[in-house]
Amino acid sequence: MDSFAGSVAVVTGGASGLGFALAQEAQARGCKLVIGDIREDALKQAEARLAQSGEVLAVRTDASRAEEMEALAASATERFGKVNLLFNNAGVFASGITWEVSVEEYDWVIGVNQRSVIYGIRAFVPRMIAQGDPCHVITIASGAGITVNPGFCTYSMTKHAVVALTEALYLDLAAQKIANVGVTIVMPGMSQSGIMSPEKTTPGALEAEVGRRKDNPVLSALEALMTQGVAQGLPAAELARMVFDAVATGELYVLPAFGDDNNRAFANMVGAGRANGQNPYPPVLEGLLARLKEFE
Ligand SMILES: NC(=O)c1ccc[n+]([C@@H]2O[C@H](COP(=O)([O-])OP(=O)(O)OC[C@H]3O[C@@H](n4cnc5c(N)ncnc54)[C@H](O)[C@@H]3O)[C@@H](O)[C@H]2O)c1
Repeated sequence: MDSFAGSVAVVTGGASGLGFALAQEAQARGCKLVIGDIREDALKQAEARLAQSGEVLAVRTDASRAEEMEALAASATERFGKVNLLFNNAGVFASGITWEVSVEEYDWVIGVNQRSVIYGIRAFVPRMIAQGDPCHVITIASGAGITVNPGFCTYSMTKHAVVALTEALYLDLAAQKIANVGVTIVMPGMSQSGIMSPEKTTPGALEAEVGRRKDNPVLSALEALMTQGVAQGLPAAELARMVFDAVATGELYVLPAFGDDNNRAFANMVGAGRANGQNPYPPVLEGLLARLKEFE
């Protein structure tokens, strides 16, 4: 897709953070917008802001529910007649310890970060194929989709899964000779957003559990390190511009996290370690734990 004018873009989790920045960038490049988000009030505010500059449809959507993603696709098609860009963006991060996180919390994060992408692909890609015009699916994964940190069990697991799922989408489209649908996977590092406040969408039954993560000294320090990193991270608007430039040139990967030499070295060590049977983690873990001492 090298021109976006007149295209229709759908963004899950579009009420705030990176999703809102992607919506603004889509609008700046001439798209009509459909934003979905689980938070009704934030969605209404985002709709009001975006409506000042162009056409926008806001649909309250829990992306972790198949029927709501199907309804989002149906509403978008009903309103605008087509969908060209799908941003699988909705996501949550809350640190936790592998054996302590409840099955319910695993289910929540798997639903928002992972099943949402399955549902997005199933609801939108058949429509895009039937349309036959230039379309593109963009998954906002994470650097945690190719590396793992302590405290990241739910997040890294789900982000690895959506990297693989979106690569599978790319390969299936190519193998089935479907030329009108492109695919891009974004692996942001720290980017300015509300990602470090999962409380805003945590299901009521999990609020106490998610709150307790800060009682553990390692998780508490990790959250503090990440909160600082996100606050000082890549501005969301800049990330959104990088994403659109990559879609325009048909890049499979956008790696804003890996412009940093340390991050790239870590990713290379993990990739090479997995392929060659060498554990890459001890030196990285030692460095991270030393760094966390500053935040204890
Ligand atoms: N900010 C970063 O540093 C960073 C780094 C790597 C990856 N990411 C990824 O970027 C994406 C966007 O996150 P963000 O950083 O903008 O965080 P954010 O918390 O600012 O925004 C996430 C949005 O998703 C919405 N949301 C949450 N659960 C939902 C659900 N079930 N259905 C629909 N909407 C839901 C929230 O209401 C919110 O508006 C996520 O997939 C996240 O994992 C962010």
